[in-house]
Amino acid sequence: MSDETNTRAKSEACAIIIFGASGDLASRKLLPALFRLLAENALNERSYILGVARTPYDDESFRQRVNDVLAANRAPTGGLLKRCFYQTVSYEDAGTFKALATRVEELDRTHGVADKRVLYFATPPQLVMAIIGRLRDSGLCVERPGGWVRAVLEKPFGSNLASARQMHEELNGTFEESQIYRIDHYLGKETVQNLLVFRFANAICEPIWNRTYVDHVQISVAETDGIGHRAGYFEQTGLLRDMVQNHLLQLLCLTAMEPPSTMQDCSMRDEKVKVLAAVKSLRPEECSCCVVRGQYTAGEISGKEVPGYRGESGVAVDSVAETFVALRLELDNWRWQGVPFYLRAGKRLPRHTSDIVIQFRSVPASVLRPLLAEQLSPNVLRFRLQPNEGIELRFEAKAPGPRLHVKSAALRFDYADEFGGEPPEAYARLLLDVMLGDAALFLPQMWIEHAWRLLEPVIEHWKGNADGLSSYPAGSWGPESAEMLLAREGRAWATL
Ligand SMILES: NC(=O)c1ccc[n+]([C@@H]2O[C@H](COP(=O)([O-])OP(=O)(O)OC[C@H]3O[C@@H](n4cnc5c(N)ncnc54)[C@H](OP(=O)(O)O)[C@@H]3O)[C@@H](O)[C@H]2O)c1
Repeated sequence: MSDETNTRAKSEACAIIIFGASGDLASRKLLPALFRLLAENALNERSYILGVARTPYDDESFRQRVNDVLAANRAPTGGLLKRCFYQTVSYEDAGTFKALATRVEELDRTHGVADKRVLYFATPPQLVMAIIGRLRDSGLCVERPGGWVRAVLEKPFGSNLASARQMHEELNGTFEESQIYRIDHYLGKETVQNLLVFRFANAICEPIWNRTYVDHVQISVAETDGIGHRAGYFEQTGLLRDMVQNHLLQLLCLTAMEPPSTMQDCSMRDEKVKVLAAVKSLRPEECSCCVVRGQYTAGEISGKEVPGYRGESGVAVDSVAETFVALRLELDNWRWQGVPFYLRAGKRLPRHTSDIVIQFRSVPASVLRPLLAEQLSPNVLRFRLQPNEGIELRFEAKAPGPRLHVKSAALRFDYADEFGGEPPEAYARLLLDVMLGDAALFLPQMWIEHAWRLLEPVIEHWKGNADGLSSYPAGSWGPESAEMLLAREGRAWATL
């Protein structure tokens, strides 16, 4: 079996209702993804899209916008365009939500969609609960016999453990946990799923995927971008909440988890929860030695001068929001006891790249004398999640010649060379999963709570300790203290 799409069902006919349909996420990601699903014959021909927002479009002008968006994103157009509709609402006016419910009923009837609907919340997070309240009152959240209602939520899922729990309680008043799809688009990336296929479809992996063979693991998500127009959001959030609490911890889980009994739904979700439950909690006194937080100052990226974070528009001149985080975690379980997992994420770093690096232990002794064991580089397995998606295994090889010269060489798998073209868009896969009712790649509340519980000591420690913020020039790989985090254990970050 090599082509997974062959085994996937087509979605049932359903309504895809997008709140915030006039916004950036809907335009750049969701609408192109839905049209791609149709082009790939994965979207039921009777499904329809209903865009909802305050901007006063009508069906025709919304279709024109969708058409423009598809062209801008080089997405296929097709018959779905005439099944795109739009409803203007006001979040203050319950009457507009009654009108929305009437519209959905009417569209369901004309398209033969039997009370099956995806409610996608692509609005700023502070609006979501208010919209859900309106939807509950209008009856649109109620599951009818034979139908289903699935709510898709974007991060952030709270800003700490207490707010995540409160959000969950409020959601629970309207939806069952099984109806809630908390999305982390990282998990829909083809290369992230390839990590799972690599681990669980290749028998050679399992025997070496443990503390006996692995020295340490590095997970890096580097961005060249600054904060763009997101100062308001980022000032409140910072990088720990924006990237580490979700994407990086998810990557940690996929790397470290036990084989699930199937790749579907609960089994995989449970295994990921178990990983977070096994991560050793950071004691307050460990937060200064095991966690690095940084903020970029002015510097140069790709030959272009860029301002420091505090010089960005909308940022306070004395802001302590972190734009870089590195941390060292350990897992308290049989497989990974004693193996450090180093995580780092940062903005205004030299390259835009996401990588997982598994560094194996050195050979126990050298038989290649006079070369010493320490002179041989350990094997490194690298998953390049983006860009230049692929996998690389570094190993030692004899350099040609009469003398014994050992050089590092690499076996490379390049996604584009092997399979051609760009990997499919993460949102297409995830939207299809929602329509199929497959929640394996979505985040359960339990996972969210574990993630917050893990980071809460860091958040608390930082609150009382603004001095711990290190600076780094834009275009560098972060503060020196991030290098020290590994250097003091005789290790170094892999070159990205
Ligand atoms: N953009 C991305 O690439 C991206 C990626 C990952 C996750 N996300 C998440 O997806 C969600 C939506 O992001 P987005 O970038 O699409 O947001 P956005 O463009 O700022 O907002 C989406 C829509 O919400 C409405 N809106 C914005 N501010 C509002 C306000 N104060 N009151 C009422 N309505 C308001 C606007 O529609 P109307 O004015 O027409 O009502 C806007 O078109 C966020 O939670 C974000 O974190 C976005």
